[in-house]
Amino acid sequence: MSPVPSLTTAVHQRLAEALAVARPEAADADPLLRPSDRADLQANGMLALAKRLKGNPRELAAQVVAGVDTGDVIRDIEVSGPGFLNITLADEAIVRTLAARAADERLGVPYAEHPGTMIIEYSQPNVAKEMHVGHLRSTVIGDALVRIMEFRGEKVIRRNHVGDWGTQFGMLIQYLIEHPHELDHDAGEEGGEAAMSRLNRLYRAARQVFDADEKFKERARGRVVELQGGDPETVAMWQKIVDESKIYFNAVYRRLDVLLTDDDLVGESAYNDDLAPLARELEESGVAVRSEGALCVFFDDVRGVDGERVPLIVRKADGGFGYAATDLAAVRNRIGTLHADEMLYVVDARQALHFKMVFDTARRAGWLPDGVAHHLPFGTVLGKDGKPFKTRAGDVVRLMDLLDAAVERAAEVVREKDAAGRLTEEEIAERAEQVGIGAVKYADLSTSRSRDYVFDLDRMVSLSGDTSVYLQYAYARIQSILRRAPEGARAEARPGLALAPAERALGLHLDGFAATLDAVAETYEPHKLAAYLYALATHYSAFYENCPVLQAGDPAVVANRLFLCELTARTLRLGMSLLGIHTPDRL
Ligand code: ARG
Repeated sequence: MSPVPSLTTAVHQRLAEALAVARPEAADADPLLRPSDRADLQANGMLALAKRLKGNPRELAAQVVAGVDTGDVIRDIEVSGPGFLNITLADEAIVRTLAARAADERLGVPYAEHPGTMIIEYSQPNVAKEMHVGHLRSTVIGDALVRIMEFRGEKVIRRNHVGDWGTQFGMLIQYLIEHPHELDHDAGEEGGEAAMSRLNRLYRAARQVFDADEKFKERARGRVVELQGGDPETVAMWQKIVDESKIYFNAVYRRLDVLLTDDDLVGESAYNDDLAPLARELEESGVAVRSEGALCVFFDDVRGVDGERVPLIVRKADGGFGYAATDLAAVRNRIGTLHADEMLYVVDARQALHFKMVFDTARRAGWLPDGVAHHLPFGTVLGKDGKPFKTRAGDVVRLMDLLDAAVERAAEVVREKDAAGRLTEEEIAERAEQVGIGAVKYADLSTSRSRDYVFDLDRMVSLSGDTSVYLQYAYARIQSILRRAPEGARAEARPGLALAPAERALGLHLDGFAATLDAVAETYEPHKLAAYLYALATHYSAFYENCPVLQAGDPAVVANRLFLCELTARTLRLGMSLLGIHTPDRL
């Protein structure tokens, strides 16, 4: 396991050295390397630097060309335009670097320089409620970030901060106490969907009585007090509701093929005992003040339309604690007890203000160092009409229905592709699951996090375009070539060969995998990995069209092209797995 420096890094070093010799006062200047269509790379840094040093950029560029140690890395370097450098790499250097990547099981990707404890909070559905598309986004993005950060060597602690506490449980618990068999189930009613429909039944029944019967309403309110006071019978019923919900959540997580388990589940209720001391501390330190009976934190830059400051309410006037108090307690726990170096919150953009206030409060209280907590907001999932995604009747879309529909559509695609009928029904079902779930995840992950996107199944499972199916097919196609390679034709890097343009382009892109993962980790943006993989598949397909592999003739060329095929496949597979998406060998 050894990290492989990319060719861009190698060229960067050589240019920086030449720059430092040409202009010692510019020893720290960045040559600013970019991929280029004219050559392999272009360096633009001479322009800004010459301007800063009041010199001529073309002259400076020429000095760098004269002084650079090209070694066996740079084949050609020339000044162009107002003072750019066009750089062409040596074919041999490309193949050698790729061979070094291939020799490493991590494809030469380094670990993070300073790995630490990273808490990633995601999914966060609410007990006794259906998960919706917002929870889907959080779950899918969070899962990808977990996989990527773990791959980089971070110690990741997953947190599923489920909404399992609050006054809304009074009604459900009271009803359950009065109808103790409501959540019982008959044989055949197992599984996540059955659990959810039992909860829906309970909710509807409870709601009906609650709306119609004042006495019941009163009893339900009293039940909240019992719950907060820890009355054993009340808590037992609450636990029953939580457990039922867990069955449902876990079924969704298994279906979505994400890493979350019960061990990651630390709900709002987990912080109950911390809330009273926390409020006391905030009040004593003056961070929170009493206002109209409530305990509040104010911010100069958070105001309502009327210009009045809008507070974060730590404790309500009736003495109850809410969402904000729980989040403050969670921050304190994660820093104080779990020693988080970094905390990521994958939550809907609409909660941005909430997190700003929570983090500001925690900082003021001295619980949260700067730069540790990051809210990673994401946009809304829209229907084809451009409005928030709803059913035709205007209800929230049930997540399981959505996943069923995606898998069904994927099964059609798999069946169609398998015109020869080589796949068994079982294989079709398995692949449909990987294609359908992959399609839903990829559509989400390929959109930049903060943007809204339209949930369009037809587009998601399309074989052409920026979809997971396209990438899965690219992978399967490479596997089929590798399978068809005749005895004796081994995938093997042959550094002595001259490369065709499509080979160079593919090779250089393959070399950029590690840099892509760095960028993803730095910005917490998995869509950069999706975009990289899509471009990889596109480069591969240009290579495949222009460069015959098994028919290349010269055995050395066959071996080297098979090597490029294999490294492309491994990069696709690793990249997709970091997004949480399978790449079946055959489709
Ligand atoms: N359960 C909340 C919801 O469904 C999301 C919780 C977000 N996380 C947090 N720490 N407040 O909207």
